[in-house]
Amino acid sequence: MSNPANGGLFDRSHYAATLEPLVNARTLPAWCYTDPKFHHREVDRCFRPNWHFVGHESEIPAAGDYISADLVIGPVVVVRGSDRELRAFANTCRHRGARLLEAGQGSCKAISCPYHSWTYNLSGELRGAPSMNEVPGFDRAEWSLIGLRLGRYEGFLWVSANDAAPDLEEYLGDFADRFRCYDFAAMRVVRRETYDVPCNWKVLAENALEDYHTGTVHAGSLGQQHSESVESTGNWCALHMPQETSIAVLPGETAPFPHIPTLEGEAAEGTFFTMLYPNTQFACTQDCMWCVTFHPLGPERTEVRVAFCFPEATAARKGFAADVEKYFHRWIIGIEEDNGIGPVQQQGLRSSSSVPGPYGPREFTVHKMNQWIVRTVIDG
Ligand code: FES
Ligand SMILES: [Fe+2]
Repeated sequence: MSNPANGGLFDRSHYAATLEPLVNARTLPAWCYTDPKFHHREVDRCFRPNWHFVGHESEIPAAGDYISADLVIGPVVVVRGSDRELRAFANTCRHRGARLLEAGQGSCKAISCPYHSWTYNLSGELRGAPSMNEVPGFDRAEWSLIGLRLGRYEGFLWVSANDAAPDLEEYLGDFADRFRCYDFAAMRVVRRETYDVPCNWKVLAENALEDYHTGTVHAGSLGQQHSESVESTGNWCALHMPQETSIAVLPGETAPFPHIPTLEGEAAEGTFFTMLYPNTQFACTQDCMWCVTFHPLGPERTEVRVAFCFPEATAARKGFAADVEKYFHRWIIGIEEDNGIGPVQQQGLRSSSSVPGPYGPREFTVHKMNQWIVRTVIDG
């Protein structure tokens, strides 16, 4: 199915089949993964108004420590002030807009612009602006960094540029309580990885929400996985994969780390693959978790960012650095296999003959997320 004529792209009739119950439903039209106009509207409605995951507050423990990230809303920075408070700012200079801090993590005494050396303190106040005292009426107090909303959930940090967005707590809905037993506040990020993948962000997010592909794509590594649907309300969905032991090491390997002591119910008996809409996955198993975010760089390009996390007590164990290699090995294999199949799907979705297909019985969560996309992009 080639793209409908301009005006027809957002006609609700194209998406009605995705809103059918799973057995009768059809996948999203291929243009949802390729078309720039669809992409722009999706970014405006699914991404911009919402909260954006940045990292964990334990990554920036000291005054001047910061996490800088390039998001759909542009570059942002979360920095710990001299008063130990965390603040979020748009990472853009108030003079002529240069980006202030490079993406990543670091530490600074002040935030100094690389272009003309305007300098801001850790609270975002402009403290130095060479020669600007010669400009009549120039008042430094009027040119502080632009503050953003900062949301926290059990140590994890989100930012929002939307003053009208509900509080993070409200946005997370029942997600917050459902997964609190993982004691995320005690988690520590032990490694981060970033990948640039030539496919639409939904290709990767959907892949992270079904186990149908595991017996094929991960046949020689993770093997076939079997997951169950999870009831959810609000801006998230999840799969649960029952298994008594951590799946963060390869099948046949023994996971060397203790289970998180606060786990209860299904969390103690398996792994949750969650997705906070639109793009943030918390994959939580019995001894660790990994946070995966899918950042659209365009209709057919996505940056995948992964933060690998363990409880602080585990990361402090003697021998952790050696034992954790088993986990890194499993994670990198799995992620690279997923990042490898995404562009293959993307290439096929470019076919002008592509028509929406049926969902398999184990793709209930993909269907759920696709319905959220339709409701947000088309009806929103
Ligand atoms: S753009 Fe930052 S000082 Fe000029
Ligand atoms: Fe996978």
